[in-house]
Amino acid sequence: MSKIIIRPCNSNDEDGILEVCYKTGYMGEDLTNMGIFNDVKLFGYLFCLYYIRYENENCFVAVDISNNNKIVGYIIGTLDSKTQERLFKKKMLYKIALRLLLHTSWKHPESLKQVISFIKSLDLKNEPKNLYKEYPSHLHINILSEYQHKGVGTMLINKFETHVRENNIDGIHLRTSSKNIKALPFYYGKGYNIIYENYCEVWKDVKEYKSLILGKKFNI
Ligand SMILES: CC(C)(COP(=O)(O)OP(=O)(O)OC[C@H]1O[C@@H](n2cnc3c(N)ncnc32)[C@H](O)[C@@H]1OP(=O)(O)O)[C@@H](O)C(=O)NCCC(=O)NCCS
Repeated sequence: MSKIIIRPCNSNDEDGILEVCYKTGYMGEDLTNMGIFNDVKLFGYLFCLYYIRYENENCFVAVDISNNNKIVGYIIGTLDSKTQERLFKKKMLYKIALRLLLHTSWKHPESLKQVISFIKSLDLKNEPKNLYKEYPSHLHINILSEYQHKGVGTMLINKFETHVRENNIDGIHLRTSSKNIKALPFYYGKGYNIIYENYCEVWKDVKEYKSLILGKKFNI
């Protein structure tokens, strides 16, 4: 039987976190061999590597100590989304642009197409104006499929929420979709509610896709 512990993240965790991110990156399912986003590193630049490199004090990993200390899940995020957004632009956008230009566009054209679709689906001007004021923190949580539904996600989100409250932050938000069918019951069960929804096309050929922002407030 697996023995899972939760610990703070460190810089050696990058590969393990990237693997989990990619293997849960397609609305909660594995992107491997799907042929729709083969540039794993670029996927990491877009969705997880910023947090590990620049805010690892807000990141925790679930490790299977009965299986070579394998990283089987993570929760990563920020206490201050406004600052995080600014730092992401400063630290990551040029890396993403260079990668797209010098590598992705000729080696992984399908990933380039998908990035264009991600950008087109952004609807920032219609999002709630006070989102970052009311819910300053945000999170991303993912667990490898063979470790899901065993209480690991609960341990990780409890750890993150305690960390947020200890820092006197009174709200967390997160982005997901109507197609993340395992995640939605999880979030609702943890007290997160929908604060914004918008029909869009994020993944090519996935219809009836609604992007969602969920939030939870604390009394501190
Ligand atoms: C969503 C996720 C983080 C939940 O973590 P977890 O370790 O599986 O969750 P737990 O075992 O702590 O379960 C708590 C609750 O989550 C829900 N849940 C977890 N796995 C589920 C599944 N496969 N199907 C439906 N509900 C599920 C249930 O409501 C469960 O409560 P229950 O045990 O009373 O039924 C995890 O399943 C995951 O990483 N999924 C794929 C990636 C993903 O979609 N991430 C979110 C991106 S926004």
